[in-house]
Amino acid sequence: MPISRIKSLRLSYPYYLTILLCIMFIYSSILSYYILTNDQSKCSNEKIPLISKKLLSTKRKLAVLVPYRERFEELLEFVPYMHRFLNRQMLSFDIIVLNQIDRYRFNRASLLNAGFTEIKSNYDYIAMHDVDLLPLNPNLSYEYPVQPVHIAAPSLHPRYHYEKFIGGILLINNKHFELVNGLSNRYWGWGLEDDEFYVRLKDARLNVTRPANISTGINDTFKHIHGKERKRDTVKCFNQREVTRRRDRQTGLRDVEYTVIDRRKLEIDGAPLLVINIKLKCNETATPWCNCTKKNDPSYS
Ligand SMILES: *[C@@H]1O[C@H](CO)[C@@H](O)[C@H](O)[C@H]1NC(C)=O
Ligand SMILES: *[C@@H]1O[C@H](CO)[C@@H](O)[C@H](O)[C@H]1NC(C)=O
Ligand SMILES: *[C@@H]1O[C@H](CO)[C@@H](O)[C@H](O)[C@H]1NC(C)=O
Ligand SMILES: *[C@@H]1O[C@H](CO)[C@@H](O)[C@H](O)[C@H]1NC(C)=O
Ligand SMILES: *[C@@H]1O[C@H](CO)[C@@H](O)[C@H](O)[C@H]1NC(C)=O
Ligand SMILES: *[C@@H]1O[C@H](CO)[C@@H](O)[C@H](O)[C@H]1NC(C)=O
Repeated sequence: MPISRIKSLRLSYPYYLTILLCIMFIYSSILSYYILTNDQSKCSNEKIPLISKKLLSTKRKLAVLVPYRERFEELLEFVPYMHRFLNRQMLSFDIIVLNQIDRYRFNRASLLNAGFTEIKSNYDYIAMHDVDLLPLNPNLSYEYPVQPVHIAAPSLHPRYHYEKFIGGILLINNKHFELVNGLSNRYWGWGLEDDEFYVRLKDARLNVTRPANISTGINDTFKHIHGKERKRDTVKCFNQREVTRRRDRQTGLRDVEYTVIDRRKLEIDGAPLLVINIKLKCNETATPWCNCTKKNDPSYS
């Protein structure tokens, strides 16, 4: 380095020091102003620390997983309603519709396994949620479930009142859903997959809790928007009846087979939702009842 340049550096040393001191002064002024105003707001408005504490405790992210096929009117009502309901609880959530687009019979359980696999890295817990059941009582909390929480409890559900009922709406954290290997993939057609899931939770010694201190009852806790004209697929063919009565120790989250065709972001009345279009695969040797037709099984009932 030429001598003249070193000289000029030396000369300007006090100049840099002054600038540095100025910056430090401005910085500390801003900092103390921030701390002071923050303290003032704490004194003048007690709600601010409460809200921020609430936000901190609900930082965990909820994926509302909705197994779905051809129920457009119900979806139109469900999404804006749930969006408002969960926003009031100040939760961090997304509504994700798992749309089954293959031609097999509806498989709620496999859709949940597939949906969970797709979204798990971005969320901490899921709500397994029927599209036709709207929570009316704002005290039904969708907060992070330390143990699985059955929101649609038998004492509150408009239709199902048996003690082991666990369908409708269930909150479970990712760790527990993985622990029980999700749901069985053998349930094509309507029903019973939730009863099998109950046994999975029980075998894993998870303690399902239900909403406490809810003042509403079976008539006014939920709104059931399932159209009576819509027939449920309760057909049984091949040996479905026999197999689906048993606990399934083989299939579940780890072996669900599907293809995601695409993901679409939509809005209904301003409420956002994600639709994942899913093609499930059926092993027709293991579960031939994924496709009940007279041609396949002339004896089906
Ligand atoms: C179901 O079975 C029928 C009759 O064998 C067949 O025509 C149809 O392609 C099958 N559907 C699927 C999705 O495999
Ligand atoms: C469930 O409850 C039982 C009895 O209260 C307790 O022993 C067990 O540890 C609980 N299970 C979990 C996973 O917390
Ligand atoms: C429910 O109410 C009872 C009595 O009012 C109270 O002791 C209990 O802590 C409440 N439970 C919850 C979970 O709020
Ligand atoms: C919700 O809980 C609060 C506090 O316990 C109670 O005052 C209110 O009546 C409850 N609301 C309903 C709809 O049950
Ligand atoms: C619910 O409604 C039905 C029909 O309106 C009525 O018969 C029943 O008593 C109600 N149950 C409760 C717990 O209010
Ligand atoms: C289908 O299921 C049968 C019987 O459970 C099994 O032997 C076979 O390996 C499965 N096929 C595939 C492609 O997974």
